[in-house]
Amino acid sequence: MGVHDGWISHPKEQPMRVAVVGTGHVGLITCVSMAAIGHSVIGVDVDEEKIEMLKMGRCPFYEPGLEELLIRAMSEERLSFTSDIGEAARSAEIVFICVGTPARLNGEANLLAVEDSARAVARDAAPGTIVVEKSTVPAGTANRVRLVLDQERPDLRGELEVVSNPEFLREGSAMEDALFPERVLIGAASDKAFTVMSDLYGPIIDRGTELIETDIPTAELAKHACNAFLAMKISYVNGLARICELAGADVMDVAKVMGSDPRIGPYFLNAGLGYGGFCFPKDLVAFERLADRLGYEFPLLGAVARINDEAIDNALGKIRDALWNLEGKRVALLGLSFKPETDDIRFSPALELASRLIAEGVEVIGYDPEAAANAKEELPALTIAEDAYAAVSGAHCVVLATEWAEFSSLDLNQVRDLMIHPIVIDGRNALDPEAVHAAGLHYHPTGRPSVPARTVESQPA
Ligand code: UGA
Repeated sequence: MGVHDGWISHPKEQPMRVAVVGTGHVGLITCVSMAAIGHSVIGVDVDEEKIEMLKMGRCPFYEPGLEELLIRAMSEERLSFTSDIGEAARSAEIVFICVGTPARLNGEANLLAVEDSARAVARDAAPGTIVVEKSTVPAGTANRVRLVLDQERPDLRGELEVVSNPEFLREGSAMEDALFPERVLIGAASDKAFTVMSDLYGPIIDRGTELIETDIPTAELAKHACNAFLAMKISYVNGLARICELAGADVMDVAKVMGSDPRIGPYFLNAGLGYGGFCFPKDLVAFERLADRLGYEFPLLGAVARINDEAIDNALGKIRDALWNLEGKRVALLGLSFKPETDDIRFSPALELASRLIAEGVEVIGYDPEAAANAKEELPALTIAEDAYAAVSGAHCVVLATEWAEFSSLDLNQVRDLMIHPIVIDGRNALDPEAVHAAGLHYHPTGRPSVPARTVESQPA
């Protein structure tokens, strides 16, 4: 019995044969979630080392519940891995393409891996195979994939179908998001494809999840629209935070008022260091490029990205205000991942801040419960501490950069006693201002009034 038993279910009918190309954050979650709802899944990746690791039941990244369900699916023989894409394609009725779509230098999504995967799948696909694009791709990609399938297999022209089925997984809760999503979005061009895909997702849809069926370009565009809108909410609240700081208002209270209006909603209104990760920054630019290419200038998107960059400038300004000259000062950075509950440091605002501080001659001591090793690899000049107390020891200032839950239960008296100057900059508004004040620390949150330290006897001079 595992803690996530409630996440497992079995389809009513025969399991379907599924292949998943790419075993990164999206692909591996797709493998495991499809197996968890009872399908027979084969995951494939060009990275043989990763495949060997997966065959041993080990996950290449941290995601709650993933390893437990992976091991279980493998032991029940519903999930296997190979580095041979032909083998995977031959055995499947449905092939998910979940390969990376990194940004090119101009910000456009690089779709080479999507093309290569589609070609390789086509070579071995059986008639009737459905090729599902799950990677986040610009509208129009499915048409290109269809052309590639036809080029590779003129003998099967019209018999290999393309479907768009974007994911809405959040890192840190990806397994749960995959098994209990708000909606399943299917973009397809034939009744047969809609039927196969709704059978595939049957166990999830039967739990009451909404199934949204659209044409293919609509599904492709909807994914970009969601991510850009969420990024826009964050930049809106970060712009608001700057105004609150200038006006002496409290952004958390303003956001509470906004969020109580159902037309606005309470989510994604947390001001702070801004958004990061491998999705929002890249997808926003790719969406802007797509709009440009289609002939519409969408200036809102550029403004969202600019405000996001300013969030780091703003934090840096606060550190400079607090410390005066930065050279030779020591700053403790709590949290290094791009958000809590993940070890992913890609486009992490915390790491961007660390590298800018280091460039200005600051000694940065970082601590993160999961992402320390990845952060050190990305930024070797960063010093890593074993825990939060070791990080703040001897620091002139502490910056809370990623709101891991453990930081809100820190012993703030101990923090104060360990620091050279009792200064806290809260880049995520995760601490209780009263508690920080009571411990004799100066508190500088984001978009809220600063709170000077209460005089405390044990405070160092
Ligand atoms: C995001 C979307 O939320 C998913 O729906 C989507 O499927 C995924 O991208 C993707 O395209 O694959 P993710 O990047 O995992 O998921 O993380 P989020 O939880 O959305 O957070 C993104 C960033 O926004 C984080 O850096 C987070 O700290 C920041 N954020 C979030 C804020 O600064 N303020 C908020 O109020 C919310």
